[in-house]
Amino acid sequence: MFELHDRVAIVTGSGSKKGIGRTIALSLAKQGAAVVVADLNLEGIEDTVNVIKEAGGRALGVELNVTSKESNEAMVEKVLQTYGRIDILVNNAGISQKVTVEDMTLEDMTRVFSVNMFGLFLCTQAVLETMRKQKFGRIISLSSVSAKRGGGVFGGAHYSASKAAVLGFSKNLAREVAQDGITVNCVAPGLINTDIWKALPEDQAKAVIGGIPMGRPGETEEIASTIAFLASPEASYITGEEIDINGGSHMD
Ligand SMILES: NC(=O)c1ccc[n+]([C@@H]2O[C@H](COP(=O)([O-])OP(=O)(O)OC[C@H]3O[C@@H](n4cnc5c(N)ncnc54)[C@H](O)[C@@H]3O)[C@@H](O)[C@H]2O)c1
Repeated sequence: MFELHDRVAIVTGSGSKKGIGRTIALSLAKQGAAVVVADLNLEGIEDTVNVIKEAGGRALGVELNVTSKESNEAMVEKVLQTYGRIDILVNNAGISQKVTVEDMTLEDMTRVFSVNMFGLFLCTQAVLETMRKQKFGRIISLSSVSAKRGGGVFGGAHYSASKAAVLGFSKNLAREVAQDGITVNCVAPGLINTDIWKALPEDQAKAVIGGIPMGRPGETEEIASTIAFLASPEASYITGEEIDINGGSHMD
């Protein structure tokens, strides 16, 4: 457990029922943070907010399309009106698509980058002024093992490229904002036990497991615990870093 009681955290893409974002949101709330559940999916937002409140946590649901500058700015305004500050941003919203480079269209490439990289940029930009004024901020973004290893099971080259872009962007930003008490880090999950994993045919699942030294997919809680650490006072001197969470499937 980490001490996050006075903290306000935004988790994008936290409306997915079996997704990583919901577990991150719940975990931060259990550690005391007021959590903003921000997603395109209204039903999912309501569900995550209820899950957090039932667990005794504080949560605010806000509709968000990360690809829209206006939507990000409106979300930040609502959070400031409600809580008066923003301490933690977890850039979790992301999309993928299984397609080869030969079959990929420019629209496919643009769609994936619009959410995974441009959306992350817009959302990050929207919180920076507040974090700079506070002289405190924690920005934590979801990259992926596929950024470093090339192709995962589910994504195409556009997905890998967008998640690699997240790493470069975060390191650059970490230098820009370090003097204002803002840290910027990434986590790079391997295959995680979400709906997408459960949909994999048995033979393919076995083949994938064979490539993971620990012999199993990761659990969403194993991503959330690392994010809670990066958000905590204990991680105060870590910035521009990326943590692999992949059961050994890729080792730097
Ligand atoms: N699941 C894995 O194995 C895995 C592995 C490595 C990295 N990741 C990354 O972790 C993050 C979460 O993955 P997940 O598997 O939980 O995904 P998910 O599909 O379950 O959840 C993604 C959420 O993002 C939301 N979203 C999509 N577009 C949006 C937009 N424009 N604005 C706001 N919200 C939007 C969706 O509504 C959804 O709730 C993603 O960035 C993904 O790339 C996942």
